[in-house]
Amino acid sequence: MELKIAVLPGDGIGPEISAQGVDVMTAVCEKFGHKVEYKYAICGADAIDKVGDPFPEETFKICMESDAVLFSAVGDPKFDNDPTAKVRPEQGLLAMRKKLGLFANIRPVETFDCLIHKSPLKDELVRGADFICIRELTGGMYFGEKYQDNEKAYDTNAYTRPEIERILEVAYQYALRRRKHLTVVDKANVLASSRLWRQVAKEVAEKYPEVETDYMFVDNAAMRMIQDPKFFDVMVTENTFGDILTDEGSCITGSMGLLPSASTGEHTPVFEPIHGSWPQAKGLNIANPLAQILSVAMLFEYFNLTEEGKLIREAVNASLDADVRTPEIQVEGGARYGTKEVGAWIVNYIRTH
Ligand code: IPM
Ligand code: MG
Repeated sequence: MELKIAVLPGDGIGPEISAQGVDVMTAVCEKFGHKVEYKYAICGADAIDKVGDPFPEETFKICMESDAVLFSAVGDPKFDNDPTAKVRPEQGLLAMRKKLGLFANIRPVETFDCLIHKSPLKDELVRGADFICIRELTGGMYFGEKYQDNEKAYDTNAYTRPEIERILEVAYQYALRRRKHLTVVDKANVLASSRLWRQVAKEVAEKYPEVETDYMFVDNAAMRMIQDPKFFDVMVTENTFGDILTDEGSCITGSMGLLPSASTGEHTPVFEPIHGSWPQAKGLNIANPLAQILSVAMLFEYFNLTEEGKLIREAVNASLDADVRTPEIQVEGGARYGTKEVGAWIVNYIRTH
């Protein structure tokens, strides 16, 4: 296969983990005989500094002309502490989602046995938890009409039937390939937008009798996720609820630095770690590259290159078993490995297996 990849390293630790993702991708392509071509593009604070726009037109063009985007992270504290800043790095991420029509954000929540002790939950609750949160990504309050003056402000949580239908279809496709259990998360006891979600969900559910569908209010879902995370298989929800629940999901596994994600929709799909730009670690060679490397696995799997994805997952597990780990997950007394060393170990594993 020939793959054209747009690489968007972004800010903070982004460029360091991006380099490891690219090396792994190259090694896998060499091994399986795929041709890959990379085009680098700027985004986030880096792009604001360079051209005054966190998602410049040129970057958009490169994304549109590629088969997939390998994205790392955006964000810089100099903008967080400046309420007068007119443009922010995060706007680049939102612009990318909107312009590429990335309405489906796929966030797997999986555990790694060797990291379960890092979970704030009891071992027996979290061991074996494995679910996917499908978050609607281009609608709701993030993009609805907004207003703000000194006395009043609002964000509109608007959804249309087609927007709800298409994300539910994605969720059912995942449920069919997994344990056939879908939980639709909403707040239909209070919100009109949620009542439309539930109404549409009930209609779509009839097309999938082999999937067990249940409906849960978001407050209850937040509670259930920490009381009984193994209850969930596939969960689908709107943009804002999904933002909150996926942060909760990522930390209950103890593996925040290991979780990748995919955003798919109308145009080029984007693959990225779920963690942020960790500006304090920039340039220190301590950031964990595994979430980025696993997002490369998701990228291959998206194109049905399952063996390629499997080899990356196997290499990641082998690195953890061999205690080749970045400092935040290293075992006591274990050797010190940096971002580059972990990446190089995985590349070597791929070449030799
Ligand atoms: C996420 C992030 C973004 C969001 C921010 C950085 C705009 O929290 O991807 O979950 O709120 O969607
Ligand atoms: Mg978030």
